[in-house]
Amino acid sequence: MNVKPSFEKGINHAATAPAFLSVWDMHAYYGESYIVQGISFNVHEGEILALLGRNGAGKTSTLRSIARIGDPEVTQGEIWLDHQPLHNMSSHEAAQLGLGLVPEDRRIIPGLTVEENLKLAQIAPPIGWSIERLYDLFPRLGERRMQEGTTLSGGEQQMLSIARALARDIKVLLLDEPYEGLAPVIVDEIEKTLGIIKEQGITTIIVEQNAVRALQLADRAVILDTGGIVFDGTAAEVLENEELRSEYLAI
Ligand SMILES: Nc1ncnc2c1ncn2[C@@H]1O[C@H](COP(=O)(O)OP(=O)(O)OP(=O)(O)O)[C@@H](O)[C@H]1O
Ligand SMILES: [Mg+2]
Repeated sequence: MNVKPSFEKGINHAATAPAFLSVWDMHAYYGESYIVQGISFNVHEGEILALLGRNGAGKTSTLRSIARIGDPEVTQGEIWLDHQPLHNMSSHEAAQLGLGLVPEDRRIIPGLTVEENLKLAQIAPPIGWSIERLYDLFPRLGERRMQEGTTLSGGEQQMLSIARALARDIKVLLLDEPYEGLAPVIVDEIEKTLGIIKEQGITTIIVEQNAVRALQLADRAVILDTGGIVFDGTAAEVLENEELRSEYLAI
């Protein structure tokens, strides 16, 4: 059996409940470029964690490292999901274990309808998220089930991308800038849905330039700066701390 390391040596660990997802001393490179510079943090089950920081701080690289994409290359560190070591796994194995990355470019499959996009993502037989349940969560997708996915509006494509991840019955949702380019009213809609997804027990890491929106939704926040962690605490602490916000988030 795999035993999760205790991590008591680490900094910035919320040492209370055992973590569902643990990142421990993770280092990653794009070729010679040292990008993720030894970061450690925990995410508890059912929690929403906002992963924030300025442009180029390493947020996308951190999500890609956790999802085992292979680029950047993780050279050191441990990643544990629900007592399973992710750090030795391929992206495919990590996905099978329940990790769902929704990348910034949304990856809708061209030439397929909304429903075909969902069916292709769905594991068979579906455990939790049937197509109908996904349409209940995102009524706009139900209304457009026969429309080609790539012809959806930006907000609808974001919804389809999240629905595709859920169709795989994930445990952890990794969202890279889900609000990017969307009107506030659509952001409201997606934010509400992320709240419902949380109520279903799914754990979420949200990377967002719109830090205030992300912090309003999140339980906790981790702030990155040049590949290292400069803050790990509650979302409320960041919202209340003007110095932290102006120094690292420019808000
Ligand atoms: N494929 C790559 N090859 C080399 N360097 C890269 C590559 N992708 C990203 N980087 C560099 O890694 C650093 C971190 O990038 P990353 O995309 O993780 O930042 P980010 O916090 O997501 O930024 P943003 O808010 O702009 O999306 C940046 O300096 C970036 O230039
Ligand atoms: Mg990014």
